[in-house]
Amino acid sequence: MLYAVFGSLARSRWVGRLLFGFDLPALRPGDRYFDVTTLALRRAARRIPPGARVLDLGTGSAALLALDLWRRGCRVEAVEIDAGVAGEAEASIRRQGAHLPLRRADLLEGAPDDLEFVLFNPPYVPTATGEGRGLPAAFRSQWDGGPDGTRVISAFLDALAAHPGDPTALLGVNGRHVPRERVEALVAERPALVLRETRGEPLLGVWVFVLGRRPPPASGRRAGPAGGTERLE
Ligand SMILES: C[S@@+](CC[C@H](N)C(=O)[O-])C[C@H]1O[C@@H](n2cnc3c(N)ncnc32)[C@H](O)[C@@H]1O
Repeated sequence: MLYAVFGSLARSRWVGRLLFGFDLPALRPGDRYFDVTTLALRRAARRIPPGARVLDLGTGSAALLALDLWRRGCRVEAVEIDAGVAGEAEASIRRQGAHLPLRRADLLEGAPDDLEFVLFNPPYVPTATGEGRGLPAAFRSQWDGGPDGTRVISAFLDALAAHPGDPTALLGVNGRHVPRERVEALVAERPALVLRETRGEPLLGVWVFVLGRRPPPASGRRAGPAGGTERLE
């Protein structure tokens, strides 16, 4: 019931405009402008300073997070894997007259080395759950996270671990689909990554994981344990 109500709000141009302040183009039937994780990521992204080089990974049909960051003066690039979604995102960006490049790519392929931040609201709904709820097959790239919801999350963590630079990643995940502990375990399995902070949005049921690259151990000192959590401050 709650799910259906939120779904219709997320498909409303009027609600999208109210929340984000953009005059949004119409979307294809069954598509949506945002979800709960979009809202949590938008809040978490307020810490990103103007001028920062940011990648909005999986920008989605309205490119809302990319546009929000662009409006705040960030040097933002949008990336999207799905051709249809990318076409809609282009139209949304054009409508705002935004100077914001959009690239079709898989995860961090082609991402610049000097990237400072990456935002990702990945597809995390377990396949059987999404099919049971009748989520549209045409928009599978937006929601299908594989058998337990972690397929794209894991691939993203691998890509982040392999990135040559030192970007801070804000990864948003709905805890009703993939529990916090599961994501934290996936991070801990990758020694190159460090979880700096986990920010909860209790009303939305979303966790935002703030991730970075683990600095190489200083020579002459013993390396600490792999994975684990560090505070930002
Ligand atoms: C849950 S939607 C999020 C859309 C938007 N960023 C938001 O927060 O509302 C996930 C988006 O990531 C895209 N995506 C999925 N897998 C991807 C991948 N491997 N590389 C790039 N984008 C991907 C999907 O097509 C979809 O647009």
